[in-house]
Amino acid sequence: MSELQFAIPTLFGLEGICADELRRLELPQVRAENGRVLCAGTDADLPRLNLNVRTGERVLLVLGSFPARDFDALFEGVRALPWEDFIPREGQFPVKGHCLNSALHSVPACQSIVKKAIAARLGGKYRLNTLPETGALYQVQFSIMGDEAVLMLDTSGPGLHKRGYRAQGVAAPLRETLAAGLVLLSRYRGKDPLCDPFCGSGTIPIEAALIAKNRAPGLNRSFSAQKWGWLDKKHWMSAAGEAMDREFDGAYEIWGGDIDSEAVALARHNAQLAEVEDIVRFDVDDATRFHWGGLYGRVVTNPPYGERVMERREAEELYRAFGKAWDKFPEGWKLYLLSSHTEFERTFGKRADKKRKLYNGMLKCDLFMYL
Ligand SMILES: C[S@@+](CC[C@H](N)C(=O)[O-])C[C@H]1O[C@@H](n2cnc3c(N)ncnc32)[C@H](O)[C@@H]1O
Repeated sequence: MSELQFAIPTLFGLEGICADELRRLELPQVRAENGRVLCAGTDADLPRLNLNVRTGERVLLVLGSFPARDFDALFEGVRALPWEDFIPREGQFPVKGHCLNSALHSVPACQSIVKKAIAARLGGKYRLNTLPETGALYQVQFSIMGDEAVLMLDTSGPGLHKRGYRAQGVAAPLRETLAAGLVLLSRYRGKDPLCDPFCGSGTIPIEAALIAKNRAPGLNRSFSAQKWGWLDKKHWMSAAGEAMDREFDGAYEIWGGDIDSEAVALARHNAQLAEVEDIVRFDVDDATRFHWGGLYGRVVTNPPYGERVMERREAEELYRAFGKAWDKFPEGWKLYLLSSHTEFERTFGKRADKKRKLYNGMLKCDLFMYL
């Protein structure tokens, strides 16, 4: 197949870092937009994207876009797209999507129009009144923003944050894509020590270990498009081979601590599932007494915010005590701390050198950077 267009939704704030990932994969026409990154590519890039992207939520194949101010325009625009090139006679094609700032604003109504238009197109091509929908899944996703409809197919299936290593979470686990984003924003390349003294289920240290080893995060899971007939199976094999060739071994200092022994046990278990237990260490430890030998390193961490895990006041006390522990670190250490607490800097006792707005789910947070 000729050139394809991809859209990779991201958590707000991670668009730039995800665009950098795509450039490192040498994909053409990379553009970061609000909440997503676009690029071009070939059939062979579809598996490469799914296997390698750390900070994107899924890989969507863009089939086309057109203005859609009313249902007729939506129906005709959808029917005009070459669905038969992608969805075979038996393919299942459920539809989901969203509308924003558009004349068409009822998602269920748009869903039903899109479904009917695809069924009309495929029914005509396959000469069937009713399509069986008994085969592989081709999840259709539409977005209608500012009266422009974009029609896409979801190539990933379960979100890319599902790496296959988290058996269960703790009370407030960080999404793997966001944890990887924090580590990449800290410019960690595997050289200096990396510590997370509020590690919970270990997501940040585990993602740091995957980054240090240059291990593709998707190697231990499957994707919807692996069942798609038009996509040559050899592309999946060669993408996995390429990813494994890029991996390297080394000696790393990656550590996670948590005051809760159950969280630490879970973090160790998750590290085993992720096959990085040989390079990450977890201990039960109190972050307010946390110290690490050595002149250089970085702390990347996600303490309680006082929203979900503990009350606001308790979080403030914790930040105050952690601020005192941080004062004893040598100057060569950097801190990257994610919190939604509006009084974080005041209670921690220092103004951040830089801040970056990020969303942890629906929660607006800042990444406080002490450089
Ligand atoms: C928001 S959770 C971290 C979640 C983690 N990033 C993950 O993905 O699972 C905060 C963690 O801080 C831990 N914690 C609270 N007070 C602590 C302290 N004084 N020292 C170390 N850990 C503490 C909690 O047990 C909890 O696991």
